[in-house]
Amino acid sequence: MNLLSIEESSAQQLELLIDLAVEMKATRGAHKTQPLAGQTWAIIFTKASTRTRVSFEVGIRELGGNVMFLSKNDIQLGRGEPIKDTARVLGRMVHGAVIRTFAQQDVVDFAHFSGIPTINALTDDEHPCQILADLLTIREKCGGWRGKKIVFIGDGDNNMSRSWMWAAKYLGFELVIAAPAACLPPEDFMTRLNAPNVSLTSNPAEAVKDADVINTDVWLSMGQEGQAEKEALFGDYQVNAELLSHCAPGHIVLHCLPAYREKEITEEILELHADTIFQQAENRLHAQKAVLARTDPYDSLRS
Ligand code: CP
Ligand code: NVA
Repeated sequence: MNLLSIEESSAQQLELLIDLAVEMKATRGAHKTQPLAGQTWAIIFTKASTRTRVSFEVGIRELGGNVMFLSKNDIQLGRGEPIKDTARVLGRMVHGAVIRTFAQQDVVDFAHFSGIPTINALTDDEHPCQILADLLTIREKCGGWRGKKIVFIGDGDNNMSRSWMWAAKYLGFELVIAAPAACLPPEDFMTRLNAPNVSLTSNPAEAVKDADVINTDVWLSMGQEGQAEKEALFGDYQVNAELLSHCAPGHIVLHCLPAYREKEITEEILELHADTIFQQAENRLHAQKAVLARTDPYDSLRS
């Protein structure tokens, strides 16, 4: 099984992965099977990472596999060797790949040309592994997402907001994207999404009214560093005490991290919700172990 995007997943797959993540978390250190025993996985990253890299390295090892980390500068990819050639070589040597890069098409091409299980560890279009960890956190903290109002505030047209919109489409919860007009998803994306339970607004206070989950992310994603004009659009979109005063009682705050204090979130709010936010970070490990276990054709948990 590949995990290339939330767009290409389904309600059944997402629910199954979250159920398995709960089991992975509960049985950490005492797994009955080691589904990646005898396998070697490659982690190929062309962007920086703390959480994703460490959680995949630890997760693969905990499931019995070996792992090699390849930054683009370690391999010929960084000198222009095409992704399809890299894929055809690695596909003959390793058992699976975890890829973080810019173009979604590169991950799609890698999966196609390598023929081995391929996991999207973040592209410009999607961050599916993060959304699985977020859903697990919502399940733990709020008892699930059914009937909940979830708000994503920040860049409405980045990898996190897009993955969230696909998750909302399949799982059916109310999702509001609050972003400056220039950072809302374009019409063609919304047409493709076709999800009446996802709405867009440029009014953050209205968006967070009675919300159960507030989710934010950096204003400038990797690859957009230095875009001061874009960053200047987000002044009214900071997650701070005043904004959160409009939320439902007992609301939670999520941030995929890394966080830029006093930009998308204040230090005060990040620390107030640190327990949830670092639980969310830990959940990357458990959620990705569920994904990894499902790549093994002999896994008894595979449906
Ligand atoms: N949230 C997340 O993907 O973090 P890293 O960039 O540190 O992997
Ligand atoms: N949208 C952010 C997510 C980081 C985990 C980025 O792409 O940089």
